Amino acid sequence: MICLGNICRSPLAEGILRDKINRNNLEWEVDSAGTSGWHNGELPDSRSINVALENGIDITGQRSRKIRSIDIDNFDLLLVMDEKNKQDVLKYCQNEIERKKVIKIMSFTGQQSDVPDPYFGEFGFENVFNMLDEACEYIIKNYM
Ligand code: 4NP
Repeated sequence: MICLGNICRSPLAEGILRDKINRNNLEWEVDSAGTSGWHNGELPDSRSINVALENGIDITGQRSRKIRSIDIDNFDLLLVMDEKNKQDVLKYCQNEIERKKVIKIMSFTGQQSDVPDPYFGEFGFENVFNMLDEACEYIIKNYM
């Protein structure tokens, strides 16, 4: 799960998917990272922590980190939140097989829309949570 800061959207996406993985007794690995290293080592944003907790998910074990080249190898899917994330992650890819792993997370719902960055904006964290929850539900159903 990849966003810009790895403190708002992708930590939520990681927490939501992990919760569904556990509920479905799957043995998938999920992690998250940012395209920037601006918040390296930090906890998720308190607004993400709170909306997750309201939905029974604890994301306080997560710490922000920047994406690394090895992530492209290590993971089958590189799920990005928006078009800018996608372009930034594609720069790490060396061939078509790697580029095909980079998918905008909302495309699983049949839409190509971006998950809006809630850090500065008006678009609330609860809306982001609901979008990601819907996308993760599709991902589980699609790959289970
Ligand atoms: P995220 O949100 O990419 O969903 O983690 C942001 C967090 C921090 C900043 C931008 C977006 N920032 O500019 O520091």
